[in-house]
Order: sequence, then structure tokens, then C-alpha cells
Amino acid sequence: MKAIRTDEEIHSIREACQIAATVLQELVQATASGMTTYDLDQLGRKSMESLGAESACYNYRSGTNVFPAYTCISVNEEIVHGIGSMRRVIQDGDLVSLDVVVRYRGFIGDNAKTVGVGDVEPAHAELLDATRESLDYAISFARAGNRVGDISNAVERFIKRHGYGIVREFVGHGVGATMHEAPQIPNYGKRGSGALLKPGMALAIEPMINLGSAAIEMLDDGWTAVTRDRKPSAHFEHTVLVTNGEPEILTIPKK
Ligand code: MF3
Ligand code: CO
Repeated sequence: MKAIRTDEEIHSIREACQIAATVLQELVQATASGMTTYDLDQLGRKSMESLGAESACYNYRSGTNVFPAYTCISVNEEIVHGIGSMRRVIQDGDLVSLDVVVRYRGFIGDNAKTVGVGDVEPAHAELLDATRESLDYAISFARAGNRVGDISNAVERFIKRHGYGIVREFVGHGVGATMHEAPQIPNYGKRGSGALLKPGMALAIEPMINLGSAAIEMLDDGWTAVTRDRKPSAHFEHTVLVTNGEPEILTIPKK
């Protein structure tokens, strides 16, 4: 497994992550009731273009499916990989998951956030807070000498107290020249298990947490994952660099 990046690769991943974070921040700030998820996707496309990056999602292939949008926008019961649509108008109270993956000078930056629009039900706001906090907690375990299972178990432990459903079908991953590299990082697992973490690993950590049950279904578009009970879901993601010291979150905008 070649998951340790050279200094040069880290430099490029750092730049890609800064762009991914800037684009995501623009989308977060723009998200409002009355706009369509297509509007948001187009904003993401233009923002990536103006920063000299390209979408790593557009034309992404999985089997015979080709992803047709520039970002992933997943509303309420949609968990991940939602496709922006002119027919989906964002409403007050919606939970909108925005996932931005860019390629810049051949390297990937990957991050996601779920935003509550306007007046959000208290139980839904709690889901957002808990999912974000589970990511922060998990990141604190992304240290040299720990194992992947320590990150996974941190999410599981944190979320279990709330009784939410942890999505199992999608996982975090290494990032490099491609979007999904080793190691896989599930959001559940045993402490001390899995691959050893070493300085120079760039990891996308991404809890996907359901208000209700963990069970998912796939929509006919072949991409959009939804909760089987149609209750809402939240998704937060950062790309993190394992160092000799503190984990470094690469997808926080520096300026
Ligand atoms: N952050 C998502 C992931 O890691 C982005 C997927 S983009 C898509 O899987 F092209 F697959 F939709
Ligand atoms: Co990802």
C-alpha cells in the first residue's frame, strides 16, 4: 500500500484542498431557500473553473454509471452523491449536503458539509452538530502510530450515544492523484485495528449519519443514496494530513 505522499505530492494536495475548501465555503454561503440544487451545482462549477481547478466528480465512473454533475448535492433523506436538478427547489428547514471534490495540477482535495436552511427542526440541528463533532473527534485520532480503526471507532463511539444510524455502505478514503485511494476508512470499527497511520498520509474522513435507521436505498439515477426510512441524513468531510505531530486539516480555508 503506497499511501505515504512525497513532499511534492503533499504540496499539491494542500493546494487542491484549499481550492476545495474555498469552493465549499462559497456553496455554503450561497445555499438558500428558493434556489434549485442545479443552481448550486452550477455555482460550484464556475467557482472551480475560476480557481483553475476541475471537478473530480464530473464524469466520474462507477461501473457503467457516469456522474453527470460537478458537485454532489444531497437534500434531507438523500445521504450522498445527489445530482443537482432544476426541479429540486430548496425549502426552508431543508438539510443540504454539499460535497466538493476538485482536481488541481493532478491532485485531489475532498470536503463536504451539511447546512441547515432557515428554520431547522431542533432534532435536525442536533443531527448536524453531532455529525460535525464526530468528524472533529475522529480527526483527533489521525495521528502517526494510531490505526485506521482508531478513527473509525471514534466516529462510532461518538455517534452511538445519540442513537443515530451510521451509514456503512460508503466510507472515507485516502486521497492522492485519484479520489479513492487506500486505506478505506469506515465510520465504525475496532480500536487498534486496520492499517497503521504514518506521517504523509492524506485521508478523507467522512461520517455519514442518519437521524433514523442506518439502512439505505439507491435511487434509479444509479447515484443518489437515500435513507430507507426517508428521515434526514448529515455528512461532514475533511481531508486531513497525518504528520509527526498534530493532525493537519487541509480543507480549512487559510484566507
Ligand atoms: N466525497 C465523495 C466521495 O468520496 C465524492 C464522490 S463524487 C462522485 O465518494 F463522483 F462519486 F459522485
Ligand atoms: Co470523500
